[in-house]
Amino acid sequence: MTTTDSSRHLVISGLRVAPIADPTREILQGIDLDVGPGEVHAIMGPNGSGKTTLAYALMGHPAYIVTGGEVHWEGRDILKLSPDKRARLGMFLAFQYPVAVPGLSVASFIRSGLNAKLQGIDKNGEVDPTDPVKGGVSMLDFRRRMREKLALLKMDETFVSRYVNEGFSGGEKKRLEMLQMAMLEPHMAILDETDSGLDIDALRIVAEGVNAMLSPDLGILLITHYQRLLNHIKPDVVHVLARGRIVASGGRDLALRLEDEGYGPILRENGLDIDVPDDALRLDEPAALAH
Ligand SMILES: Nc1ncnc2c1ncn2[C@@H]1O[C@H](COP(=O)(O)OP(=O)(O)O)[C@@H](O)[C@H]1O
Ligand SMILES: [Mg+2]
Repeated sequence: MTTTDSSRHLVISGLRVAPIADPTREILQGIDLDVGPGEVHAIMGPNGSGKTTLAYALMGHPAYIVTGGEVHWEGRDILKLSPDKRARLGMFLAFQYPVAVPGLSVASFIRSGLNAKLQGIDKNGEVDPTDPVKGGVSMLDFRRRMREKLALLKMDETFVSRYVNEGFSGGEKKRLEMLQMAMLEPHMAILDETDSGLDIDALRIVAEGVNAMLSPDLGILLITHYQRLLNHIKPDVVHVLARGRIVASGGRDLALRLEDEGYGPILRENGLDIDVPDDALRLDEPAALAH
């Protein structure tokens, strides 16, 4: 198979998405985006603009129905693929609210994710994920790689014997997300950061983790309500999502403008009637982030 340059771009064209519960009420009303290798694209937008819906639609969440458009990655329309196949194609989709899995250790969890990914999308029978001679990773190499990534993320080795998300603090859940990402070495990562409860610890973990993993082979779609995260992760492009559409795209200065002015002026400039006062569209930081 020849890989053309464009296959390593996540290309979203005319994406329209509605909730399954109400398929006629489209939340996303035609999204166009092109995230290339090595690029960090930030999606910002007021609450309720459709940011999380975009992340969920890209990961194939069953509560949403795609009513139009296409999403191309690695030469395929990924909207036709199950979430696990998307992951096998090198996409990493972080959960905003990860679930706990008592009895499953972090190490086993990541090992099974890695094995699935090594088998690839066609579940090639010739690959034995546990056998290094057959395209797999031996237990020894797995442990070595885990230690390397733990060091990269400045994490304690005892972390991997804990059960997945069980009793994890918000910051530890973020650490697991970053560790998974480091171990799976995706080529496209989609990260949706919480609109609330993103405490300073979690913010730092995500920023340090992402910065440690930046590479010319990795495209990142970073979804965030707060510009603060963008002080630590420098995006190449910033997009403003409002009412299910991208109303503006620009460089980092766009994010700084939003921090300064809130979303009000840019929405008005783009002809969006806003029925809430400008103050409600400011990017006020959660209390935990204030100096
Ligand atoms: N599963 C769903 N069912 C019905 N409405 C939904 C669902 N998910 C999101 N919405 C609605 O779609 C809009 C956008 O939500 P969301 O994508 O969570 O926005 P954001 O992440 O930008 O705050 C909101 O009005 C929200 O109530
Ligand atoms: Mg959201």
